[in-house]
Amino acid sequence: TPEVRELLLSRITDVVDYPKPGVVFKDITPLLADPKAFGALTDTLVELAGRYGATKIVGLEARGFILAAPVAVKAGIGFIPVRKAGKLPGATLAQAYELEYGTAEIEVHAEDLSAGDRVMVIDDVLATGGTAEASLELIRRAGAEVAGVAVLMELSFLPGREKLSGALAGAPLDALIVV
Ligand code: PRP
Ligand code: MG
Repeated sequence: TPEVRELLLSRITDVVDYPKPGVVFKDITPLLADPKAFGALTDTLVELAGRYGATKIVGLEARGFILAAPVAVKAGIGFIPVRKAGKLPGATLAQAYELEYGTAEIEVHAEDLSAGDRVMVIDDVLATGGTAEASLELIRRAGAEVAGVAVLMELSFLPGREKLSGALAGAPLDALIVV
């Protein structure tokens, strides 16, 4: 709803020149510290999980974990962490993606996702779309289906949505706030 969007927006702070000059960082820590705002965000994402028919929630390390975990608990479905490479102890699938400078890699436990799973991906920000795209590759490679991607914020001055469209293959991408 517009009211929830307004509340969420009011709890996200712009930090100029962080982490480097010329960048405006979107700080969600005031939102996390406000139980009314964090609760409204969680409830909105739980509703989306229902609409997607999701059977698993994937959170993207690190900020995506914070948003996704309460959604999984409230929706009554499992939480699956997609971690930065080297952190998961079991057999993993790994996917590299482009950063502004160089590449990064994320991983998921191979046994956590399988055919028949409908997976909702949750993260805080969609920027270039590299992180989310890599997570969709992992989900498909694990044999599961992408039910949808939900982010708190989409940075519309970056081409994240276009970048993601192929990997979405028709699945929905929902941004609660577009800046
Ligand atoms: C940030 C943000 C998203 C990602 C978006 O994560 O939380 O996950 O970048 O960027 P992209 O669309 O260009 O891939 P980051 O890895 O910087 O840090 P975090 O561990 O704090 O989430
Ligand atoms: Mg992140």
